[in-house]
Amino acid sequence: MTRHLITSAIPYINGIKHLGNLVGSQLPADLFARYQRARGHEVLFLCSTDEHGTPAELAAAKAGQPVAQYCAEMHEVQSRLADGFRLSFDHFGRSSSPQNHKLTQHFAGQLAEQGLIREVNETQMYSVADGRYLPDRYIEGTCPNCGFEDARGDQCDNCTKQLDPTDLINPRSTISGSTDLEERSTKHLYLAQSQIREQLQSWIDSKTDWPVLTTSIANKWLNDGDGLQDRGITRDLDWGVPVRKGEAPWPGMEDKVFYVWFDAPIEYIACSQEWEDAGKGSDWARWWRTDKGAEDVVYTQFMGKDNVPFHTLSFPATILGSGEPWKLVDYIKSFNYLNYDGGQFSTSRGRGVFMDQALDILPSDYWRWWLLSNAPESSDAEFTWDLFQANTNKDLADVLGNFVSRVTKFCRSKFGEEVPKGGTWGEQEEALVAELAKRTKEYEGHMEAMEVRKSAAELRAIWVAGNEYLQAAAPWSTFKEDPEQAAAQIRLALNLIRLYAVLSSPFIPDASATLMRAMQVTDDTWPDDVKTALNHLGEGHAFSVPDVLFRKITDEERENWQERFAGTRD
Ligand code: MF3
Ligand code: ZN
Repeated sequence: MTRHLITSAIPYINGIKHLGNLVGSQLPADLFARYQRARGHEVLFLCSTDEHGTPAELAAAKAGQPVAQYCAEMHEVQSRLADGFRLSFDHFGRSSSPQNHKLTQHFAGQLAEQGLIREVNETQMYSVADGRYLPDRYIEGTCPNCGFEDARGDQCDNCTKQLDPTDLINPRSTISGSTDLEERSTKHLYLAQSQIREQLQSWIDSKTDWPVLTTSIANKWLNDGDGLQDRGITRDLDWGVPVRKGEAPWPGMEDKVFYVWFDAPIEYIACSQEWEDAGKGSDWARWWRTDKGAEDVVYTQFMGKDNVPFHTLSFPATILGSGEPWKLVDYIKSFNYLNYDGGQFSTSRGRGVFMDQALDILPSDYWRWWLLSNAPESSDAEFTWDLFQANTNKDLADVLGNFVSRVTKFCRSKFGEEVPKGGTWGEQEEALVAELAKRTKEYEGHMEAMEVRKSAAELRAIWVAGNEYLQAAAPWSTFKEDPEQAAAQIRLALNLIRLYAVLSSPFIPDASATLMRAMQVTDDTWPDDVKTALNHLGEGHAFSVPDVLFRKITDEERENWQERFAGTRD
């Protein structure tokens, strides 16, 4: 038995996430967590909301709420939606938790002790009208690079150049619009990442099994001229983790907080403390401290590609720089982007389908199946309503749903609602079992390797094999000449339904549970031996015919939805 620590990139608190966000980290992480649990491994699967930084403050201001209240409410909303999508987190924490405050301050104190924090006097924009500094998105102006007039303090959205607030031409406050700004000198903390460069390089070099996409991003930042610069880890904001050196105050830093990208990944660890403090488990350190049992933990992180530098460099720099025996990530699974119907998903323009809307129109399994089987792995992928309708109607309704319905209804009409007696397997049955045994092994290999699309394709092939068998064996014809033979065929087919429930549960957990209930079994042990698994339901075992497992999406629905989600949320 292996111990799997699994984390998903923690979603920003500012609003409901769209399906592109979901498939980029939380959903594939859930697939992997469910699979490893099903294989009998011990799993700790963690996610949280990322609650600090200017995006949270600005979203709260826009909603007219105090930021703490806004975050508390949005956490509830995101938590409910995570349940709706059946994301099986062991804990869904908050980066604003007291545990994360304490741990973030602890890491800063450790880094300072190791001589890795520099105090730097830097020039920041101060707004006289607002009586405060204006970091990052609190300031806008004209881009010095391309002339775009609404460039933000941290980046120009038009030409993507990374900016400093002091670079902007004609800068203005996004709070008041005031242009009465002045440059003031203020002290900030810098993490001396450059001093950890070699340690990071040899750690990255040791990851020979990582995808090239991941290591090439890391190496680019490590080796490019302005690659691993020392980074400011504090900000002039009210909302965030107050700057302290462990338990002690940090002279001169009283009104500052840590930068959101410093405290957010630390929340992966703090979340396990929240999990323990919530009474859901014990001994969090066993997962995170290599001096307390975590040396044999396998730690996998899931994220979108834009998060890779922070997880290959910044966060490991914090961990390694602390000089303490914290667990480092073993494998990073990163994703490209999902586009929406010929363009991009857009949170600001409300373009595309958001998590709440998706659950309003269809149960989560439809979305889980489509998103995972079309995950943006080797390249960007695209959601279109045509594809969504065609894929789910075929895979879920025509293949899986139809198989279940034909088998259970035929059995009920000819043999009654129990597994029929008599007959034996012939060549056809043995061939099917051999094919399924082989495909199940392939499926396991892909799931183990987190090849999400390949896993889905293999599962689909496993469903198709059952359908093809049923078509060829045709128990409805066999029944006329040889009812015993038909009984053996249907007995196998009913057992296949249970096998499908077990194998499909990481992808479509609700449908799997429905099938298990219909087959009146609770034993969902993973089939180490497919042949044995296909004899699980014995003669005379009672079952019931389930309601329609997956309905078809109509052309009319497709057209309505396409129009409804084209832009601007209602
Ligand atoms: N909130 C970030 C995003 O959505 C991800 C933060 S991941 C963590 O892109 F490592 F910082 F936790
Ligand atoms: Zn620009």
